[in-house]
Amino acid sequence: MLFDDPAMYSQLDPQDMRGEIARLPDQLAEAQALSRALPLPAWTGLTRVVIAGMGGSAIGADLLAAHALPDCRVPVFVHRDYGLPGWAAGPETLVIASSHSGNTEETLSAFEAALAAGCRVLAVCTGGRLAAAAEQAGIPVWRFVHAGQPRAAVGFSFGLLLGAFERLGLLPNQGAEIEGALEALRGQGASLAPEVPAVANPAKRYAGQLMGRSFTVFGAEFLGPVARRWKGQVNELAKSWAQFEILPEADHNALAGTVHPESLTMSSFAMFLTSPLQHPRNRLRMELTRRAYMLEGVSTDFYEAHGAGRLAQQWTALQFADYVSYYLALACGVDPTPVAALEAFKEEMAGTQ
Ligand code: F6R
Repeated sequence: MLFDDPAMYSQLDPQDMRGEIARLPDQLAEAQALSRALPLPAWTGLTRVVIAGMGGSAIGADLLAAHALPDCRVPVFVHRDYGLPGWAAGPETLVIASSHSGNTEETLSAFEAALAAGCRVLAVCTGGRLAAAAEQAGIPVWRFVHAGQPRAAVGFSFGLLLGAFERLGLLPNQGAEIEGALEALRGQGASLAPEVPAVANPAKRYAGQLMGRSFTVFGAEFLGPVARRWKGQVNELAKSWAQFEILPEADHNALAGTVHPESLTMSSFAMFLTSPLQHPRNRLRMELTRRAYMLEGVSTDFYEAHGAGRLAQQWTALQFADYVSYYLALACGVDPTPVAALEAFKEEMAGTQ
């Protein structure tokens, strides 16, 4: 079986993306410890939070916002653009600028806008221009050490935000939730690693199903950002086309768009992220929407999130998505780490300043 050849891993993955994925639980635990030690003013009176970031840094914010939604007493807005929304002004607004490299121009622009609008600001990064600008402005910097790709640092880009929310009293203590997530991740991770043969490894089997197909992932509630993460990982690891859809919204538009072009319908694959913790009507929608796609001739499957609690389920689903994307990269014969297209585009943009 293709995925069971040990030589393939060192040949196609010389920068060890498989190790990055395997270390995700450790990274989450490290982020939790770090967030308890890093400096943070005792800000009070916050009425809204904006998290500014892009790509692999922004997804941590999406995961946090979806996880926090039922419990957080203030709105949390993920901003993926230049500047800031007009309502983000004054000391009641906390802006967290999150950029792995610290050099992403959209995030730097949001950071500058936050300073100009008199917001409370926190920078989360490994260094770069964001760290330098924040230090110069006397803004707290939550620095973490990670030498790999931003998307492989999602344990930091989520875990540090979660820790900041706890410290600021925006969320109750997350200790038990994190413990549950780590236990579930370590348990599931053992069954998805490259050493586990395809017959016993569902991530390898799912990757086999996705080969040569146009892929759409459906999520809802706290699994919505996992659908987005999965789409991004298929793009960046496997250099392949992918889409994501969020229920219940997709039942009001995407569901109608399955007929043309016929060749695309026949070569598409729709994946549904389900959880016993979802709203019962969303759970029903997952099932009925999947059936509707099947009846149109689309190949479908589902992943049922497991673990005790939302955080455990969100993170085991993410871990599964990362492994499937990783194996798909190998099946496509591409190195999962470099993203030459993104780097070249960033350079082109920088050259026009
Ligand atoms: C690359 C990746 C990208 C970056 C994005 C923003 O692995 O995931 O999506 O995250 O280009 O860069 P940073 O995170 O450095 O602000």
